[in-house]
Amino acid sequence: MLIKNIQSLLQTSDASKVLRGDSMKQISSIENAWLLIENDIIKDFGTMSSCPNFLGEIIDATGKIVLPTWCDSHTHLVFATSREEEFEMRLKGKSYQEIAEAGGGILNSAKKLQNTSEADLFDSAWSRLNEVIRMGTGAIEIKSGYGLSVDGELKMLRVIKCLKERSPIPIKASFLGAHSYPAEFKENHKGYIDLIVNDMLPKIAEEGLADYIDAFCEKVAFSVEETEQIIKAGAKYGLKAKIHTNQFNCMGGIELCVENNALSVDHLEVVNDAEIKYLKDSNTIATLLPSAPFFLSDPYQPGRKLIDEGVAVALASDYNPGSTPSGNMNFVISLACIKLKMTPEEAINAATINGAFAMELEKELGSISKGKKANLILTKPINSVAYLPYSFGKDSIESVIINGKIY
Ligand code: NIG
Ligand code: FE
Repeated sequence: MLIKNIQSLLQTSDASKVLRGDSMKQISSIENAWLLIENDIIKDFGTMSSCPNFLGEIIDATGKIVLPTWCDSHTHLVFATSREEEFEMRLKGKSYQEIAEAGGGILNSAKKLQNTSEADLFDSAWSRLNEVIRMGTGAIEIKSGYGLSVDGELKMLRVIKCLKERSPIPIKASFLGAHSYPAEFKENHKGYIDLIVNDMLPKIAEEGLADYIDAFCEKVAFSVEETEQIIKAGAKYGLKAKIHTNQFNCMGGIELCVENNALSVDHLEVVNDAEIKYLKDSNTIATLLPSAPFFLSDPYQPGRKLIDEGVAVALASDYNPGSTPSGNMNFVISLACIKLKMTPEEAINAATINGAFAMELEKELGSISKGKKANLILTKPINSVAYLPYSFGKDSIESVIINGKIY
């Protein structure tokens, strides 16, 4: 397939390192460009003056922008049902944390998941996956964490494995057994951590069900010391850490993650100066999830400050039934600009190449580079890239190309 007369071909430099600070400000682009796809791979691209003669399928992209698909490095895409009853409780004044403490929240999803078959979980997740691909997502990370028992966690991870096998886009799986303490372990944290370490992890490793280990390091969930045990146990099986931390409280989660070479720390609605310093001197990526504070009416992540201080920032959706019932990365880009004060270029870098780094997919995806996967967004006719975050809530995508084919 040849795409020609592309008004702007965006994100054409191949970063060998995750982008941080000033390097996030620029996006290389080629104006009036062509791009040639062979099978599922980007074969070549250039300016129209060098456009090859081509006899196959040709797309005329006059007035349109072509960019890499979004790399959504943090989701909870597999869940049994939505939780709009909790949304209504919050509208009446209850907080997300109060609902969680009263046995709602994650435990509510766990109860529902227990009574849902693997086949039904697969079907609903499959339709969510297709929904987000249509909105431009071309690679995704999916977590377990609504099982909270040996059987439940294995069930979720097996569903993610089936999704991986059938999905047209790359999927990475994270084991999040440490999402919340199940009711029966509320007063016996050691018992549940032992279950994760001695029962869940060995089985997960044996079946090769996880790429990463995750934990929810938060007052309502796992302490720093407990999170450390989980990270270390995962490391024994070669699982790098991607950790939920600093959503509501600064407790030392970031320092712990940096010390343990975590791939990413995710959420970061609250983050102090010492923690910013740890991050900027590390390889750990700060994955910001602005749709969560949007939905929960919480303070937004200090995206501007993190970038100005030189932290590597990625953006992801956090698609889940409790704090973020949306996997729309276009909206994430808008929030990043409007609320996190990031520039359109920074937001797009954070949602493409840095998102790819946060899933270790940077060699395959995240930029327009020869030999990378042809997962691309073709916009409707728009004047400039800033129009994408500016026109929030509007669908500016004309088509999504996955593995070299229009999806
Ligand atoms: O990333 N904060 C922890 N986990 C999810 C929400 C889980 C839920 O409420 O179901 C999150 O926001
Ligand atoms: Fe999350």
